[in-house]
This record gives sequence, C-alpha cells and structure tokens, in this order.
Amino acid sequence: MYALTTLTTLATLITATLAGPVVERLPNHPGLGRIVKRGEGVHLVNCVNYSAVVYCANDSDCNHFPGSGNQCIPDGGGITHWEGGDKRCTFPGTGTEFKWNIRSDAQSQANYVNVGTGNNGFHGFTIFKDDKHVMYKDGNGNACSSIYYALP
Ligand SMILES: *[C@@H]1O[C@H](CO)[C@@H](O)[C@H](O)[C@H]1NC(C)=O
Ligand SMILES: *[C@@H]1O[C@H](CO)[C@@H](O)[C@H](O)[C@H]1NC(C)=O
Repeated sequence: MYALTTLTTLATLITATLAGPVVERLPNHPGLGRIVKRGEGVHLVNCVNYSAVVYCANDSDCNHFPGSGNQCIPDGGGITHWEGGDKRCTFPGTGTEFKWNIRSDAQSQANYVNVGTGNNGFHGFTIFKDDKHVMYKDGNGNACSSIYYALP
C-alpha cells in the first residue's frame, strides 16, 4: 500500500513536471529556470500612452531604445491589446512583418512563462510573459515597459 501510494505520488510529480511551463532565465530578467544564450529578440512594450513592437539584434543588450527603424507601432497607436488571436505589425523601415498570437489569459500567468508564438517571416519565435521592467524612456520621457518578449 505504501509503495503504491509512493508510486502514485511519483507519477503525479513527473506528470506535473512534464506539463509545467517552459521557463527561461535571461541575463537581464532575474527569473527562474535555466540560463539561455541570447541572440535577437522582440519585445512587446507599453510606453504610457502607446504600444510598440521593438526588435533587438542582441537581446542581451536591449535596455535602450533600439532606434526608430527597429520599432513598429501596432494598430496605428494607443495601447494595444496584445493578447488573443492573430495580430501583426509591419516595421516601416524594412517592411518586415512580425506576427504574434498570445493566449488571452497570458497576464494571469507567471512571469517568464511561455504564453504564445510569433513569426517574422524568416523564422518562428516563442513568446514569454515579461516582468514589465522598464527597457528605456522615449523622447517624451515616457517609460517603456516590456510586457512580453519573443525569442527564436
Ligand atoms: C503621448 O504623450 C505625449 C506627451 O507625454 C505626447 O506628446 C504624444 O503625442 C502622445 N502619444 C500618443 C501616441 O498619444
Ligand atoms: C550582446 O550583448 C552582451 C551584453 O552587453 C554582450 O556581452 C555580448 O557580447 C553581445 N553579443 C554580441 C554578439 O554582440
């Protein structure tokens, strides 16, 4: 009986572990889990009165404004509803379109948890809930906070 209970507990533990969220720890995101090597990244940010999709060639070095060519304003301005369904934004400089799909309950998930997918026409991205740290201040002094980040 004891052995059976132990086995059942073990099986439950394993199942919970396998079904658990994908967690990554980032150099500038003091979170849980394993440290991953960073390359390019895309941040979905809110800057007080508008939202922006921001491309960082080196996501380990992305706590500054990456330049207007690397910024795309979705929905023509205002604060975007990032979650729920297929959404997209086209970077004006390059014409690159970034598409994303974030689960509608993403904000109720823990930070750094996988909450969606993205694609820039070259390859796919995995999207994680971010901790809303301020990445930079824009030209008006508005703080821009990272709501989600996408990694290849
Ligand atoms: C946001 O507010 C600033 C003033 O802080 C204003 O100059 C700017 O036009 C506003 N932007 C949008 C997109 O509403
Ligand atoms: C990316 O930025 C990090 C942190 O500043 C730096 O250590 C690393 O060398 C950079 N990688 C590249 C490829 O420039």
